[in-house]
Amino acid sequence: LKLGILASGSGSNFEAIAEAIASGELNAQIQVVIYNNPGAKVCDRARRWNVPAVFHDHRQYKRRQLDAQIVATLQEYDVEWVIMAGWMRIVTEVLIDQFPNRVLNIHPSLLPSFRGARAVEDALQARVKITGCTVHIAALEVDSGPILMQAAVPVMPDDTPETLHARIQVEEHRIYPRAIALAAQQAKNSP
Ligand code: GRF
Repeated sequence: LKLGILASGSGSNFEAIAEAIASGELNAQIQVVIYNNPGAKVCDRARRWNVPAVFHDHRQYKRRQLDAQIVATLQEYDVEWVIMAGWMRIVTEVLIDQFPNRVLNIHPSLLPSFRGARAVEDALQARVKITGCTVHIAALEVDSGPILMQAAVPVMPDDTPETLHARIQVEEHRIYPRAIALAAQQAKNSP
């Protein structure tokens, strides 16, 4: 599987996927990382893994134009599967239509609960006792589309957004590589 990873920040999910590939758990290659924030830590991580990192500044484009730049880069690097790993931009049909059922996203809640950029805070505020993470095929509507895999984590009484997010991320790193393999398997079975 030839993966292209879209990441806006830390890139710990990029790292987890890279490690799963290195250990033989996931049969794939990361062709390119695309990032949109100049100081994003994912860029250093990509360098350490010898993966090309390409910067596209969302501040310079409208949404569809940004996606057109991204699609061009993905095609240039021969990408088959688009893996959004902390990609904090709303994607358009320009990207989705180019990779039908091949754009994946990870979200730090048990969807369909708590869509959006404040999922961890919103879960705390709602006082749910269980939350988690979801890997799904990306549809046009934000944080929606067929669910591939989920993992649950408990919410502790003294949790802050940071402690809860850290607990969720342990599960993200565990399930994202598996969900990618599952998506590929499903695509093979029903082309
Ligand atoms: C993850 O919690 C992901 O679910 C959310 O953004 C975070 C990205 O973390 N969409 P990282 O950059 O992979 O460390």
